[in-house]
Amino acid sequence: IQWFPGHMAKARREVAEKLKLVDIVFEIVDARLPASSRNPMLDQLIQQKPRIVLLNKGDLADPAETKKWQQYFIEQGYSALTINANQGKGINKIVPEAKRILDARRTRPQIKGMKPRAIRAMCLGVPNVGKSTLLNRLAGKNMARTGNTPGVTKGQQWLKFGKELELLDTPGILWPKFDDQAIGKKLALTGAIKDHVLHMDDLAIFGLDFFRAYYPEALTERYQLSGEELLLDTPDLLMLITEKRGYKDDYDRGSRMIIQDIRDGRLGRYTLDRLDEEEWQDEAAVD
Ligand code: GTP
Repeated sequence: IQWFPGHMAKARREVAEKLKLVDIVFEIVDARLPASSRNPMLDQLIQQKPRIVLLNKGDLADPAETKKWQQYFIEQGYSALTINANQGKGINKIVPEAKRILDARRTRPQIKGMKPRAIRAMCLGVPNVGKSTLLNRLAGKNMARTGNTPGVTKGQQWLKFGKELELLDTPGILWPKFDDQAIGKKLALTGAIKDHVLHMDDLAIFGLDFFRAYYPEALTERYQLSGEELLLDTPDLLMLITEKRGYKDDYDRGSRMIIQDIRDGRLGRYTLDRLDEEEWQDEAAVD
């Protein structure tokens, strides 16, 4: 998706409409970039609505960092769970957690003497964080697609999970924080934004710098580098790896290979947003 002001306004309107229908929001982020893969104006849009932050792709992220981020979100007053939507790991905790939150807030709609109705929820997140994968995973069992629920806006489909949960069948999609260069590169490195947005060699160099700083053994192992080679200037390192791979001076090809290795986890698990080193705030977002 390319985000232009018109698209952003439309996406925002659509999300605002959907938000009116639900009791709770499942905000999905990429565990490798738990801050950079959030929408900058989400807080403003959701306001007081309960939410669970789902750190998805937990299998690709550095587990020690994921733990810190989960704790961070909890300290910010959210509920947070780490999941792997591809394999369904952790997703059985979502509904009990939603129930717990809504019961604690006593916001769960209830008619006296009757069981509370199903929780209505929606998935929300920037592109590529795994919204559809999660929906499909959740839908794996006990799921029935329903028509319009009476009293609810027409045209919205709900996925029903037993009597517990009703989930909007289309997720809310918002834009990432792409106007910051470094964030754009992080998003591109995980494959969250399109390749033609950036130069491949710039991106590969960004990736090499990052791995050298945080996961140097991953580089030495994968590309058979000596300790001395690892200390080369990054463009020289890129050239060296390209040559070692047999791509001669095709640095574009070398760059693509490195980027693909990072995206596919061939350099191991990693977290690009570092909680300890950067100042992260829940910004009162700008329109
Ligand atoms: P948009 O439709 O662009 O908004 O994306 P989305 O948020 O619906 O993401 P989608 O479910 O299409 O997943 C994007 C990619 O991430 C796919 O290739 C998924 O297979 C992959 N993916 C999703 N969840 C996980 C996960 O937990 N682990 C791993 N390794 N990959 C995942």
